[in-house]
Formats: sequence, C-alpha cells, structure tokens
Amino acid sequence: MIEISFNDNKTQKDAEVVFITDTKGLSKTAKEIAHLQSFGAKNGEILFVNSEKRFYCGLDSATPDNIREVAAKAVRTLKKYTFKHINIIGFDDENLNYALTLGLGLGDYEFSTYKSKKEDSTLKSLNIAESKKAESKKIAKDSTLQKALILIDSINFVREIVNTPPQDCTPIDLANIANKMAKEFGLECKIGDVAFLKKEKMNAMLAVSRASDKEPRLIHLTHKPKGAKIKVAVVGKGLTYDSGGLSLKPADYMTTMKADKSGGCAVLGIMRTIAKLNPNIEVHGIIGASENMIGGNAYKPDDILSTREGISVEVKNTDAEGRLVLCDCLSYAQDLKPDYIIDLATLTGACVVALGEYTSGIMGYNKELNKQFENIALNSGELVSILPFNKHLEKLIESKNADISNVSSSRYGGAITAGLFLGRFIREEYKDSWIHLDIAGPAFVEKEWDVNPYGASGIGVRSVVDFILSLNNAR
Ligand code: BES
Ligand code: ZN
Ligand code: ZN
Repeated sequence: MIEISFNDNKTQKDAEVVFITDTKGLSKTAKEIAHLQSFGAKNGEILFVNSEKRFYCGLDSATPDNIREVAAKAVRTLKKYTFKHINIIGFDDENLNYALTLGLGLGDYEFSTYKSKKEDSTLKSLNIAESKKAESKKIAKDSTLQKALILIDSINFVREIVNTPPQDCTPIDLANIANKMAKEFGLECKIGDVAFLKKEKMNAMLAVSRASDKEPRLIHLTHKPKGAKIKVAVVGKGLTYDSGGLSLKPADYMTTMKADKSGGCAVLGIMRTIAKLNPNIEVHGIIGASENMIGGNAYKPDDILSTREGISVEVKNTDAEGRLVLCDCLSYAQDLKPDYIIDLATLTGACVVALGEYTSGIMGYNKELNKQFENIALNSGELVSILPFNKHLEKLIESKNADISNVSSSRYGGAITAGLFLGRFIREEYKDSWIHLDIAGPAFVEKEWDVNPYGASGIGVRSVVDFILSLNNAR
C-alpha cells in the first residue's frame, strides 16, 4: 500500500506528476517528446519526461470524475517505474484535491493475496503538494482529505473481502471479520446464529442457507452516538457463494459468484467509515450472511416459505435467493424503527442488462428520495440510475399458491420486479424511507475500469456514506 501525504516537504522526492488539460502546459523538451509520441493531453494519456523526472497526465477537463479516473491510471503507471517518493501537484480547489486523493488511493489496490510471486513496486509514497494559491486560500481542508483517506481504507478493505475466495470467506468468516472490525473501531456487534434466526422466524433466510455445510449468520453492527436524532439502517446481501441452489447456475454464470457478498461487504465498509468519521447519527449495519448450495436438504422450487414478516412466498427459482435473505433482514431492520432504510445487493443479472456493468440501479417508492440519493451518489463518483416501479410490473410477482412468488412471471423488467418483491416486505410506515440499490453490475467487473481494478470495486460505500453524512446537515 502506498502512503499518501499532503504538503510534506520533509521527504526527498524522486519525481513529479502534473496534470494538464492541453499541451500548452508542456516544457520545450516535453513538447518535442510529446510530438514524437503523439501525446495530446487527452484524458488518461501519460507522458514521462526522463530529463525532468516528470509525468504529465492529460485531462480532457479538470472535473472531479476525470481527475479521479486519471489519478487512478497515473498510480498504475507510476508503479511500473523505480521511483520511491513522488510529488503530485494538486489543484486550486478542495473538491478536486479530494477527487485526486481518492483516485490515487483507489487506483493503488490490487488483489495479490493468493499470488506466490507478488509484483513488488518500489513506490512507497505519494505526496499531494497544494499549489501556492491553494495554500494561501486554505482550499484543501484537512478534514476533507482525511475523509478521502478513510474512504480509501474502507473501500480497499471491502474489495479484499469480496475478492476472497468462498472457501476462505464463509458466513462465519464474515461474522468474525465484522466482530474484529467492531472491536477495532468501537462499534457494537451482534451475531445471530441458526438458533437466533429460528427464534426470529427468519425462515426464508434459513431455507436458502439449509443445504450448505456453512451455517448462516445475521450480522448486526451499530454506531450509536449519544443524542443522535436520526437513525439509519443499512442492509446488505451477504451471499458468500451463490451456486443457484437446485435451480443450479450454468458453469459460466457460477464463476464470480463469490462476489454475491458485495452488498454485505459494502455494509462493513460503510460501518467502518461511519465509525471513523463519527457523525451524530445512529447507524445500523445488517448483513444476511448465507451460502446458496445444493444437497438433499436443499430448499426447492415449489416450496412455500413463511417469512419473518408473516408473508408467505412460493419459491419458483432457488437462484432468486438474495430477495429471500433480504426480506427477512429488512423485516428485522424495520423493528429498529429507522428513519431511513437502504439495502445493497447484487440482486439481479437483469439490472446489469438494463444499465450495463458500471451502473447501480436505485429503486424505491419515494421518488424524491430516489432523486436525492441519485444526486449524492453521482457526486460521490459512483454511477447510478433510477429504475421506476409501476403497478403493472407488481402484478407479475403474484402467486397462485402463496402471498407472493419469488420470481416474476415475465422475463422482462427483472431488476424492478426484484425490487418490488422487496418492497412488499416494507411496512406502510417505512415505504417512503426505503431505497433499494441493485449493485449486481459494478460490484465485480472482470476488467479494470475507472478507479477500479479487475475484480471487486467496493461500490456503494462512497454513495451511502455521503447520503448518511448529508442527513447531518438536513436537520
Ligand atoms: N446473484 C445473482 C444475481 C447476479 C447476477 C449478480 C450476475 C451479479 C452478476 C442472483 O441471486 C440471481 O441469480 N438472480 C437471478 C434471478 C432470476 C432467477 C429471477 C438472475 O438474475 O438471473
Ligand atoms: Zn442467485
Ligand atoms: Zn445471488
């Protein structure tokens, strides 16, 4: 991990990075090299001038989105050289320096835990040197840059857990990680075992988990400052493996299903960030940790489950297991009487078809809240889009034999019908305070994109943390 500092002029620097929006900013020598290499200062183009020990990084324009992305790309490039300490010339704007920091820290992560030969880089530290103008105007507040460092730590922590293979990250492992983190960061942590789930009548979650040798766990983390006036519950799908169950996934679709715990892991990252930032808001993080497997004991298509909310569900497809785990967790979360409930889940392939791999779907009954969340998420650097509910789609999850079916009768609109399924478990008094985030696309992508490496992205942490922090200013 590369250390990131601000305005540190103690350590000797071996090279420098500057961001430029056009080739006018290049020195004379640099211009000549740029010409030879047809460097046009376009977004993500990087030019190294050896005689100046300087990297020129092109930006189409100096927006937070461009800066984050190019900074991440710059780190990946810098690691290929042999420098130890590098100075990065910052911007005259706090928001841009915040984006720069995030890009550097998030671009540095790679999953190498299981590689016997690690690609060691010599790069030890990056120092963001504010321009003279910024220093005099005190543009980059320490707290803002500290927030970026906290987010980087949390998101990389989430990525590492999501990337961990299923044999090393079972529901019990996830519960142990949560427990350890809670102790370290001063959160309350309650772990519910099978007996607890039975007592709580979380029969849908139990049914999904039954065929696995690995027991399920309900993980409940709490940040409870004295005198908090707002309470938020964040609920995550924590399927440490989703084989599809008896409605088994084809081989090609089963790989990467270690990442079906991404929603739950995002909840860990959100709670870790909240614990460190310590806002005066009560935040509950609830994770349904479970494994969807096959076996003689497996739950079956045609089973009818009796959920914690008292609603009966006909199982039509055991691969639509996330909503079964979540409906019981959402029921548990509502008993906490929160002002807002947000769930995060790699819920449907249909959401990826609808929005592409990089965008999360926002769903919920409260149009204003959806919009509010969308704005905050986009500002945080996460791509999101609202998928609208409608009563016609709602009819598609009716069941002949039970109160509701776990899959839609139509092949179209699968992300929304999954959202509507969850919506049935939200009590009338919470309908307007609930948001569902389908992160199936961006949670795990098998190629590098934006600030993310191959694999887990830690998506959901930035947007949900910023949403929670925005509530502090609202009241
Ligand atoms: N975990 C999957 C959804 C998923 C798919 C996440 C691709 C990430 C990438 C979920 O449990 C699932 O299998 N959903 C089914 C629902 C269907 C059976 C109604 C799906 O999307 O195919
Ligand atoms: Zn599934
Ligand atoms: Zn799943």
